[in-house]
Amino acid sequence: NEDQFKRVISHAKEYGYIFGSSEIYDGLSAVYDYGQQGVELKNNIREYWWRSMVYMHQNIVGIDAAILMHPTTWKASGHVDAFNDPLIDNKDSKKRYRADVLIEDHAEKLEVKAQKEIAKAKKRFGDAFDEAQFVSTHPRVIKYREQKQEILDRMARLLESEDLAGVKALIEELEIADPISGSKNWTEVRQFNLMFGTKLGASAESATDLYLRPETAQGIFVNFLNVQKTGRMKIPFGIAQTGKAFRNEIVARQFIFRMREFEQMEMQFFVRPGEEMKWYEYWKETRLKWHLSLGLGKENYRFHDHEKLAHYANAATDIEFDFPFGFKELEGIHSRTDFDLKAHEEFSGKKLQFFDPELNESYVPYVVETSIGLDRMFLAILSKSLQEETLEDGSVRTVLKLPAILAPVKAAVLPLVKKDGLPEIAQKIIEELQWDYNVIYDEKDAVGRRYRRQDAAGTPFCITVDHQSKEDGTVTLRNRDTMDQQRISIEDVAKHLSKSMAY
Ligand code: GAP
Repeated sequence: NEDQFKRVISHAKEYGYIFGSSEIYDGLSAVYDYGQQGVELKNNIREYWWRSMVYMHQNIVGIDAAILMHPTTWKASGHVDAFNDPLIDNKDSKKRYRADVLIEDHAEKLEVKAQKEIAKAKKRFGDAFDEAQFVSTHPRVIKYREQKQEILDRMARLLESEDLAGVKALIEELEIADPISGSKNWTEVRQFNLMFGTKLGASAESATDLYLRPETAQGIFVNFLNVQKTGRMKIPFGIAQTGKAFRNEIVARQFIFRMREFEQMEMQFFVRPGEEMKWYEYWKETRLKWHLSLGLGKENYRFHDHEKLAHYANAATDIEFDFPFGFKELEGIHSRTDFDLKAHEEFSGKKLQFFDPELNESYVPYVVETSIGLDRMFLAILSKSLQEETLEDGSVRTVLKLPAILAPVKAAVLPLVKKDGLPEIAQKIIEELQWDYNVIYDEKDAVGRRYRRQDAAGTPFCITVDHQSKEDGTVTLRNRDTMDQQRISIEDVAKHLSKSMAY
């Protein structure tokens, strides 16, 4: 799996999907640029999300709020006081860590021990091995998992009660060492706010401190009444938004999984108080269906319901995805009660209420939100799509089986040879298709090599123009995944593409 992850990262660079930011200056940690292929995939994922949210729901509309917001927004939302990570330094190595991640990694080692026992038994019992039975009865596996859970539970309780001295004591009790130097000489634990600050105004004295938004959601909450009134929206209704968010993440690792500058796709659904659980269940189901519609495989998703809830939530779950480094959060679905709107009412002194004509009363709506990281979705798709296949002749082909609807380039048009009028026919096909699809022309190298290049780049179709095309106006349509080749009329090419990419 680690190998697969390395392959994904190097493939992403080699084929123009993702580059490190300002790479010629050795990059900027946890900041990335999207290349010529990457920007297309990213745009397509965003559009797929937007269509399913905004166009497919008559009661959801979109907005695009600014990244910079009035600073009081972040006091009201709780981010100034509570959007913190607990940090700890090692006095010898001078390295800084997230205290909770050190503890989590320590707990994870117990899971690795449990997995080793399972693998050993699997080898010993072969086909007769019943994993479910084994993990529920084997004393060492049970013990490792109980110990792991106990550590995680203790940490969660300490963090919840903001007992930072207790967190440090736990690190010492578990004898956690600096992963680099092996030293156990730790500083106190302290809170570190994740928001990026910036300044508005020219002179140092008159400048106002602002923050780059750490989530897009607050731009929706502060516009709740604007949209409700001007769009004449009736509860229940939703507001969707995609855009950049910024977090000064300390543990910035795992490629584009955890970035300092990233993009969110969020939807806040405003409901009658008391009806939030019904809508929470609705959005859990609807969002999972959206993921499954991409065909990456049902087994790669699971829900992780939160037992410990943030102060504003009365229910929360993650949709987790099986990334190359294991199941991790891809999307969050939260029932946020009226916490945000009430807080903005209090801090702004403005009413943020809805008059419900059916109930004949005004109230502050409850909110169910769905929130997904666009870059994380990108990584999920890229890592599952990258495959190596051994063909019948024993050769290995690298193929990026992106869902056709998301693929950066939908078709490559290839003249078999660079002469005899074939390039001209190919160019004419491109001129027709380019109004509706991103298509490219490629005439370099033997056609077999061109197919392999497009397979690895993720292009779902190749359209090959040969001498027969001149005679009867047909071309070969080659399918990336099945490698099937089909002779079709040039006039039917667009129809074939559209059929395989219907929403
Ligand atoms: N408005 C709710 C909210 O922001 P969150 O769980 O903090 O909730 C939602 O973030 C989603 O945003 C996550 O599920 C993840 O996909 C994405 N996300 C959060 N932090 C990220 C980061 N540092 N890099 C990339 N994606 C991130």
